[in-house]
Amino acid sequence: MSFSFVNHVALVTGGASGIGLATARAFAQAGASVAVADVNAQAARAVAAALVEAGHQAIGIGCDVADVDQVEAMVNETVATFGRLDAAFNNAGIQNLLAEVADATAEDYDRVMSVNLRGVWSCMKFELQHMRRQGSGAIVNCSSLGGLVGGAERANYHAAKHGVLGLTKSAALENAARNIRVNAVCPGLIWTPMADQMVAAGQGEALEGMTRAVPMGRHGKPEEIADAVLWLSSTCASYVTGQSISVDGGFVMR
Ligand code: NAI
Repeated sequence: MSFSFVNHVALVTGGASGIGLATARAFAQAGASVAVADVNAQAARAVAAALVEAGHQAIGIGCDVADVDQVEAMVNETVATFGRLDAAFNNAGIQNLLAEVADATAEDYDRVMSVNLRGVWSCMKFELQHMRRQGSGAIVNCSSLGGLVGGAERANYHAAKHGVLGLTKSAALENAARNIRVNAVCPGLIWTPMADQMVAAGQGEALEGMTRAVPMGRHGKPEEIADAVLWLSSTCASYVTGQSISVDGGFVMR
């Protein structure tokens, strides 16, 4: 599927790898000027440089979404560079350390929440301030299948991803009459460097088991999430707000 984002500006957090990288590329290929933001500033700049080399408009921004001041600066730099902000994909996220609730640490809870939940909140806060002034915009937040079901030893991650859906619905309500839409995507098992990290951490067998449990019998590709994000961000989804779309090969419908 292809959409036109010519004369549009898109911001993607966690844009240096995996799902964010595929989405930044998809926005650029659809004609958008793209701000690629990532805590790995060097990688974000390298992604942007490759996009520019390929004939697109892009900038790379170093931003830790857990730091509210850095998030404000990221949105300001995007708008200062390209003049507007039409689409934002709040995608940056991390895994929790596997542990039952009884054994998990408060430090890991705070670490995961600061990126996966407060990070989405602060990105929306500054994106929405600009979109309100602009009178238009579309935000897509990255939740997860973990935003819809529980997960043993993954409570911190699943709690944050459930929270993302609450933030999405509430911000959608607040902005529905302002020509600003807010939706979420819930990826299933998508093969990215995050999955590689899980294999490296000894969770390869668990991942294989999950893949076997996917009704489509395979893991997804980052580009399949990018397609959903672009659709939600496009005028083709002009009457869609406050929704979450599972892109998971049928995993959570069982
Ligand atoms: P990834 O690890 O390949 O990419 C994540 C990117 O986010 C990296 O470039 C990383 O540097 C960046 N990042 C991490 N912490 C950050 C921070 N504090 N500030 C800014 N950037 C930060 O991961 P992947 O798989 O592409 O995940 C992207 C999103 O999709 C995450 O929110 C994840 O929870 C979600 N997701 C992934 C699934 C999967 O199977 N891969 C399944 C469901 C959800």
